[in-house]
Amino acid sequence: MSRLLKPALLAAALICCAVAAPMPQIVKQGRKFTLLVDGKPYIVLGGQVNNSTGWPSRMQEIWPVYKALHANTAEIPVYWEIVEPKPGEFHFEAIDQIIRDARAQNMRLILLWFATWKNGVMDYAPGWVKADTVKYPRMIDSGGKPVRVLSPHSEATMHADRTAFAAFMRHLKEVDGDAHTVIMVQVENEPGSLFTDRDHSPASNKLLEGPVPAALTTALKRPAGTWAQVFGAEADEAFAAWHVAKYVNEVAAGGRKEYGLPLYVNVWLRERKNFMRPGEAYPSGGATSNVLDIWKAATPAVDVIAPDIYVMDYAGYRAVCESYGRPDNALLIPETGGFGAFARYMFYALADYDALGFAPFGIDRIGAATVPDGVPGVSPGTSLADLVRPMMDNYRLLGPALDQIAAWQGTGKLHSAVEEDQITERLLTFTDYEVLAQFGRPEVSYGGTFASGTARKTGRSMVAELAPDEFVIIGFDTTVRFEPRRGSKLKSAQFLWVEEGRFENGEWKAARRLNGDETFFRLTLPAQGAILRAKLMSY
Ligand code: DGJ
Repeated sequence: MSRLLKPALLAAALICCAVAAPMPQIVKQGRKFTLLVDGKPYIVLGGQVNNSTGWPSRMQEIWPVYKALHANTAEIPVYWEIVEPKPGEFHFEAIDQIIRDARAQNMRLILLWFATWKNGVMDYAPGWVKADTVKYPRMIDSGGKPVRVLSPHSEATMHADRTAFAAFMRHLKEVDGDAHTVIMVQVENEPGSLFTDRDHSPASNKLLEGPVPAALTTALKRPAGTWAQVFGAEADEAFAAWHVAKYVNEVAAGGRKEYGLPLYVNVWLRERKNFMRPGEAYPSGGATSNVLDIWKAATPAVDVIAPDIYVMDYAGYRAVCESYGRPDNALLIPETGGFGAFARYMFYALADYDALGFAPFGIDRIGAATVPDGVPGVSPGTSLADLVRPMMDNYRLLGPALDQIAAWQGTGKLHSAVEEDQITERLLTFTDYEVLAQFGRPEVSYGGTFASGTARKTGRSMVAELAPDEFVIIGFDTTVRFEPRRGSKLKSAQFLWVEEGRFENGEWKAARRLNGDETFFRLTLPAQGAILRAKLMSY
C-alpha cells in the first residue's frame, strides 16, 4: 500500500508546488521586440481559420490541416453574438472545448474577439445590440443615413463590448491561466467603418468642430487647434481614427485588467487600394499607415497594431512590414496569403523585419481537394495541397529552427535572400564576407556567373552570421557563394568545413559533412529545402 501511495503523494506534492509558467508577454530589448511564451522567445508559425470555423466540431476537421502545415499556433475567432446571446448571459463552452482540443494537438492559440467591428462592419454584434438602434446607435453617413456599423461615440455600446470582453478574458484566466495555451488575443477585427468616413450624427459633428484633445496633439507634437486646423484634408479620417482607437483601447483595457495576455489589433490596409478613399476602399478610422501615430497615441492597452498583408507585390509587402515594424510597434502578421508569392514573403518578414509571427488566412482551404475555378493566376483543377506546398515546406524547415531565428532577429546579422521577377540574385554583406545568393541555373556571361531564375520563383532563403567566419543558410532553391568582404586585402574565401543538418532543441545536429562536388563551385539549397552551416577562411 505504502509503495502505491508514495508516487501519488509525490505527484500531489509536485502539483501543489508547481510554479505556473510565466505569462506570455511581448518584451523589448534594445530595438528588438520578442514574444515570450513560457518565458522563452516564440515565433508564431500560424494559420487563421475561416470566419465560421470557430466551432469545436468544425475544428475537428481542421486540426489535421494544422499538423500537415507544421504550424505551432492556430488563430481562431470567438464570436460576441455566441458568447453573450442575451445581455449578461455568457457562454464559453465552445471556447473551452477548443482550448482542450488545442492542448491535445500540442498547439497554441491566438483567439480573435469578433465584436463591435469585423471587417469594418458590425456583423458579429449580438442580435440584442443590432436590434436596439436607439441604445446602440449606428454610424450615420454624410447623407444622413444609418449604416451597418456601430458608432464609436456610444458609451453604451462600448460598455457592452468591454463588459463582454472582460468576461471572456476573466474566463480565459480561469481555464487557461496556468497552461497558457492561449498566448495572445486579437481585440475586434479590422476596426473602422465601411460605407462612411466617420459618424456624421449631430453629436459627432459637434465633436468634430471642437478642439483636438490635448493628449493627441501632445503625442503628435502638433499645435493645438480644431480637427480641421490640425489635420486639414485628413481631418475626418483622423477624427474617426482617434475615436475608434479610444473605443478599442477601452475594450482592451477592460480585458487586460482581468487577464494580462498580449493584445493586438489587426488592420485592413489602405495600400494598393485604388483611390484610397477611407470608408470606401478600406474601413475609415482603422489603424492604417497614415493614421498609425494616432492609433499608437490612443491605445496604450494594446501591445501591437498588426497589418493583415494581402499586398501582392514584394516591394509593397516589404513597405508594409517597414511601416508597421517600428520602434514603438512590433511587426506581427496575423493574416496574409497562403500560396504563391507569400511563401517567399515570409522570409522577408522573419529575416529582415523581425516579425513576431506569420499566419496565412483561410487554413480550412488547405484541406480542400482543388482550387475553385476563377482564382486569378491559377489554372482550374490545380490541387490546393500543391499550391500551398511552398508554405508547408517553409513551416517544416523553419519550425525546428525558430529558437535560433528568434535569437538572430534584431542582431543585424540575419538577412533574407529572396527571388523575384527579374531578381535572380541577391548580394548580402556581413562583417567579413559577402554572400551571393542565386536562384536557378548558373550561366557564365560577361562579368561572371549569373542565374536564370527558377520556373516558379521558389528561391527563398535566409543567411545568419554566427561569427564573422561562420554562417547558417536556411532555405530552398538557392545557391550561395562567399567572398571576402569588398575592400578586404584577402581575395579568396575557402570553406574550412560545411555541414548539412538541423536544429534540435536549440542544438545543431549535423547529418553530414559536405565537400567535393557539393562545395566546389557553390553551396546548394535544393527545392525541398535544407539547412547548411559553414565555417570559412580567407587567403
Ligand atoms: C480579412 C478579415 O480580417 C478576415 O476575417 C477575412 O474576412 C479575410 N479578410 C477574408 O479575405
